[in-house]
Amino acid sequence: MSNPNQTNYEKVTPYDTSQMDKKSQVTSMFDKIAPYYDFLNGLLSLGIDTLWRRKAIKTLLEHQPKHFLDIATGTGDVALEIHKQSPEATIQGLDISSKMIELANKKVTKHGLSDQIKMEVGDSEALRYEDMAFDAVTVSFGVRNFGNLKQGLSEIHRVLRSDGHLMVLEFSKPTIFPFKQLFNFYFKNILPFIGKFTSKDPKAYKYLYESVQAFPDYDQFAIILKEIGFNKVTWTPLSLGICTIYLASK
Ligand SMILES: C[S@@+](CC[C@H](N)C(=O)[O-])C[C@H]1O[C@@H](n2cnc3c(N)ncnc32)[C@H](O)[C@@H]1O
Repeated sequence: MSNPNQTNYEKVTPYDTSQMDKKSQVTSMFDKIAPYYDFLNGLLSLGIDTLWRRKAIKTLLEHQPKHFLDIATGTGDVALEIHKQSPEATIQGLDISSKMIELANKKVTKHGLSDQIKMEVGDSEALRYEDMAFDAVTVSFGVRNFGNLKQGLSEIHRVLRSDGHLMVLEFSKPTIFPFKQLFNFYFKNILPFIGKFTSKDPKAYKYLYESVQAFPDYDQFAIILKEIGFNKVTWTPLSLGICTIYLASK
């Protein structure tokens, strides 16, 4: 269903259907690609995604949080990375896709971390946690997929304690010539081509490209965070701007 209040980036959806809203389409897409997600991440980013998450968590840990909420946890890689760098942390992972959570739970169990890391299915736009329940919230490659970005960010703000930190890791658009042009060619043409045959969802990696193009990055995303009530918003581009770590405090 199309919603007249949606911004342009919220109108970019995985499938060309007006029968389902963005949230339902995104959920269905991630349920579908879940079994291939980790493999494709590694292949398409040449393993660099692991370094991005590592760096993002390292940056956040400078503020010494102990209780974490990892939103859009997917298969749980951020939650596991938090544990690796901060073994005493308690971590709640949440994702709207039950198939992703199934895989995340398998990983957590395999690592013997079921006491430290809990996983559950849930929607970032209607969190079931109390106000100020967490020291830090992380969202890695998730905010771009929210059906209502501002609603999701407001919920994050609510569940963060005063002085708590939000870390967002998200794709951005490289600006430097000729890397910008080369990367764009790869991202627009090669990546969806490989994704089409390996993820069994022809649309998923086309949506990845289109959603990144439409999404506000750098100062534009910082403005939105400030509108929600976050302050001390900083951003650090990684790998010549392919993705960016945003850090904000409540
Ligand atoms: C690209 S994956 C990122 C997974 C993981 N954070 C990572 O770094 O690999 C995006 C995830 O966001 C989840 N997601 C999208 N919208 C959501 C929402 N409204 N609430 C919770 N999770 C959501 C999807 O189900 C998917 O697992």
